[in-house]
Amino acid sequence: MTDSYLSHDPENLPPVLVTGVAGFIGFHAAQRLLAQGRRVVGVDNFSPYYDVQLKRDRLAQLRPHSAFRFVELNIADKVAMEALWRTEGPFVEVIHLAAQAGVRYSLINPYEYITTNCMGHLTVMEMCRHTANFRHLVYASSSSVYGGNEKLPFSVQDDVSHPISLYAATKRSDELMSQSYSHLYNMPQTGLRFFTVYGPWGRPDMSLFIFTKAIVAGEKVPVFNHGQMKRDFTYVDDIVSGVVAALAHPPAREVNKAPHRVLNIGNTRSENLMDFIRLIEAELGRKANIEFMDMQPGDVPETFADISETTAITGFKPTTTIAQGVPRFVAWYKDYYKVS
Ligand SMILES: NC(=O)c1ccc[n+]([C@@H]2O[C@H](COP(=O)([O-])OP(=O)(O)OC[C@H]3O[C@@H](n4cnc5c(N)ncnc54)[C@H](O)[C@@H]3O)[C@@H](O)[C@H]2O)c1
Repeated sequence: MTDSYLSHDPENLPPVLVTGVAGFIGFHAAQRLLAQGRRVVGVDNFSPYYDVQLKRDRLAQLRPHSAFRFVELNIADKVAMEALWRTEGPFVEVIHLAAQAGVRYSLINPYEYITTNCMGHLTVMEMCRHTANFRHLVYASSSSVYGGNEKLPFSVQDDVSHPISLYAATKRSDELMSQSYSHLYNMPQTGLRFFTVYGPWGRPDMSLFIFTKAIVAGEKVPVFNHGQMKRDFTYVDDIVSGVVAALAHPPAREVNKAPHRVLNIGNTRSENLMDFIRLIEAELGRKANIEFMDMQPGDVPETFADISETTAITGFKPTTTIAQGVPRFVAWYKDYYKVS
């Protein structure tokens, strides 16, 4: 149940810290909080994993808000984080989204995953646990923790001890580290397992972006596992609704029970990848030149979220179908990249 904390005027509440604020989900989460009247402090290190200009352009949308402040830093840098807490904090609510994302890149640059996803996660937790009256750390996990599980839909009760990529292993490690910190320090935390997020201002390494870019350029569209892929594509506004709902529902501090939980945030519809591509084609008015390829190492053929616990605890319910969401992404893409 939501406590009386949120009955205050939003602008009189302490600021929410959003890590990874120049990233896809962090940017949208900050926008939503600002629209709700909350003050937001955002941090990001503009990691060069993908186009840094896109990150700067997202941030440029946030900067005009008087209730928004930005600090450029690396979350794994303890000294910088302590300075942040001193100068902008303390923060009693944290939405931790900064990460080295991407399954495929974890085969190429494994070290970055440990530095940001493990050391960075530890540093964020250390800051929170030394904060008086700390209220809630909401952090990003991933549907990739379900690995090669074949039982569908994926439930938070399922075994997740067999990650098939280092990315997934770091996200599962975050969940385990959080469990231990909640147990040791009675610190309320919620880990959110996001399922394939898409939408305007999306990530250039993700399928919708890659497909759209290739179709616009008339280039081959790589489709893995010969198109036999299903994904629980979740629109970014729904993801942000889940993040904000989770933030408002910290697990209770109880005797002998760590105040930590993990929740799925998905659309609960497993969509065929080829249907997704057909929607992009229809929106662009151009046919895709598809190149079918084998399955990539670390990838899974299907994802599908069971969100029953998320709905029961936070009231979260996704509302956006891919038929609604894909056109919104394509409209943004055409505008941002000036495609006629
Ligand atoms: N987008 C998805 O489909 C998806 C699915 C599952 C989980 N997630 C998780 O959700 C979170 C947000 O993902 P996203 O799609 O917005 O990714 P993103 O890459 O767009 O955003 C992450 C941001 O974190 C920043 N960052 C990276 N390392 C940092 C560091 N050491 N210090 C400070 N900032 C750093 C990056 O510059 C980037 O702006 C991540 O934790 C990701 O693993 C995303």
